[in-house]
Amino acid sequence: MSKYFDSLCAVDALDLHVDNEIFGLLGPNGAGKTTIVRILVTLLRPTKGTASICGFDIANEPKKVRNVISYVPQEMALDIRLTGKENVLLYAKLYGIHDRINKVNEVLELMDLTDRCDDLVKTYSGGMRRRLELAQALVHEPKVLFLDEPTLGLDVSARRRIWNHILSLRKHDITIFMTTHYMEEADEYCDRVAIIDKGRITALGTPQELKSSLEISNPTLNDVFMDKITTREDECAFDGYKFRTMLRRRS
Ligand SMILES: Nc1ncnc2c1ncn2[C@@H]1O[C@H](COP(=O)(O)OP(=O)(O)O)[C@@H](O)[C@H]1O
Ligand SMILES: [Mg+2]
Repeated sequence: MSKYFDSLCAVDALDLHVDNEIFGLLGPNGAGKTTIVRILVTLLRPTKGTASICGFDIANEPKKVRNVISYVPQEMALDIRLTGKENVLLYAKLYGIHDRINKVNEVLELMDLTDRCDDLVKTYSGGMRRRLELAQALVHEPKVLFLDEPTLGLDVSARRRIWNHILSLRKHDITIFMTTHYMEEADEYCDRVAIIDKGRITALGTPQELKSSLEISNPTLNDVFMDKITTREDECAFDGYKFRTMLRRRS
């Protein structure tokens, strides 16, 4: 599929198959990650082509697609004036979940939020807010979960905790399709990744496959990223100086 915003090509003939796995979409700011996710979750229409999720076409069967997916956007999707539990209950109501209270308690427990579920969300830390968004997303038992930058802006321990929860969802057979800026996380947790640059896939495979394709010693996914991206640093918020310093320290 492709997506144009006027003459700007944000997604350029994307051709991709994702299995029951944790799949990471990596790329600099403006690469087209969010646009791809928004198309797949039926919030945007592709200009050309289409995609299907669990056999349902995103353009012709958007309602069926929405039944089997959940989406946690990059920006916050919570009402901070409500308690954690009220936020999840709202979702459960919108989805028409039977046995609502039990389901809400179950997903709050799954995300380790039971202790604080009656406190207002405005008193929650960034990591707790993210876990609450995950709890909301799980309330209607999706088969595919879309996460746009799930750990952005969180400290290391909160990020690790979110990842442990994402990994635990795999035990429930949920496919995770996510975007991230953090190469170390993608390397450690994703089954496969695609690096995209200017709307095009420039590398696709397991982190190990991509690293082995470089002919340097101890390659990291950061090295692969640097190798596959042509977007100039001043076009995005990518900090090339920081990356090079880090690479020097590692070599
Ligand atoms: N609604 C929109 N209207 C016009 N241009 C957009 C819109 N949404 C995204 N874009 C452009 O499409 C490109 C891809 O954006 P995006 O998908 O948000 O990238 P990423 O999530 O990888 O940072 C960028 O150049 C962005 O400015
Ligand atoms: Mg984005």
